Amino acid sequence: MFRRTRRLRTSEAIRGLVRETFLNRNQLVYPLFIVDGVNKKEEIPSMPGVFRYSLDRIYEALEKIEDAGIKGILVFGIPSYKDETASAAWDDDGIVQRAVRKIKKETGLYVITDVCMCQYTSHGHCGIVKDGVVDNDETLEYIAQIVLSHVRAGADMVAPSDMMDGRIFRIRQALDKNGYINIPIMSYSAKYASSLYGPFRDAAYSSPSFGDRTSYQMDCSNIREAMREIQNDIEEGADIVMVKPALFYLDVIRWAKDRFDVPIAAYNVSGEYSMVKSASAFGFLDERRVVMEMLTSIKRAGADIIITYFALDVAKWLKEGFYE
Ligand code: PBG
Ligand code: ZN
Repeated sequence: MFRRTRRLRTSEAIRGLVRETFLNRNQLVYPLFIVDGVNKKEEIPSMPGVFRYSLDRIYEALEKIEDAGIKGILVFGIPSYKDETASAAWDDDGIVQRAVRKIKKETGLYVITDVCMCQYTSHGHCGIVKDGVVDNDETLEYIAQIVLSHVRAGADMVAPSDMMDGRIFRIRQALDKNGYINIPIMSYSAKYASSLYGPFRDAAYSSPSFGDRTSYQMDCSNIREAMREIQNDIEEGADIVMVKPALFYLDVIRWAKDRFDVPIAAYNVSGEYSMVKSASAFGFLDERRVVMEMLTSIKRAGADIIITYFALDVAKWLKEGFYE
């Protein structure tokens, strides 16, 4: 006698009854690039379908996001100038701060801001550089100022992506001391030094001008170290922890899910987007099927929240009844 597992696959109806994992548009976050200047809607060459918008044209993106029924966005700013201390990042009139004020005034979207210095530093590193290396502890003070300027502008949540040690503690302290006790922190906790960020760095002009990010981002060989990073962040006060990238790191997502009881976010990064987009453009892959399989798998691995450039497409495919 053998068990007939195929009995549960004989029709759409029975497959629907036993399906274990679903995507839900409420748990998708769409990254949005906002560039200083006017009348800009620039398609990112390595990310077809993704644009940098200037503030005066941002409504074009916001309309699409709201029409799709996506509620959460992750805002990235591309400033008009860069310097050693990333001063455009903590300026109350900086690009992110102005964008957040506008978006919060004009939409009902939930606005998460990426908190880092690399788009704003002249050298492209995620912190203050001293004698050729990133100074962890001095960077924390700048990160705290960036966070405060974001929440003063109206950000609903902050997402630090710099990978400095102790930043979550410092951010929580700054938020609480200034009365922002209800602003959650989504920490880029297990952020790997990945080759898959290439297209993002094209989009945000944020490639480091010397060296790389391996002294603060993680080595892809390590998973127990990722658990230590996550544990530290939770102890310091992170409300949501993130694994990034997603696709090559599904095991990291699963380990995190099994070990920790906070929500887990996964960032389906620019390189994951570009791989699918380019293969689909050649007709080598069926885009809709690949995207749904990829994101369902990220969910199955244990992600609660998925940050993805495909969010608007997925919301549409879900509305069309993908799982029906
Ligand atoms: C900034 C930041 C990066 C990404 C998100 N925040 C780039 C990096 O660390 O170099 C990558 C996102 C993506 O590739 O989609 N620290
Ligand atoms: Zn950075």
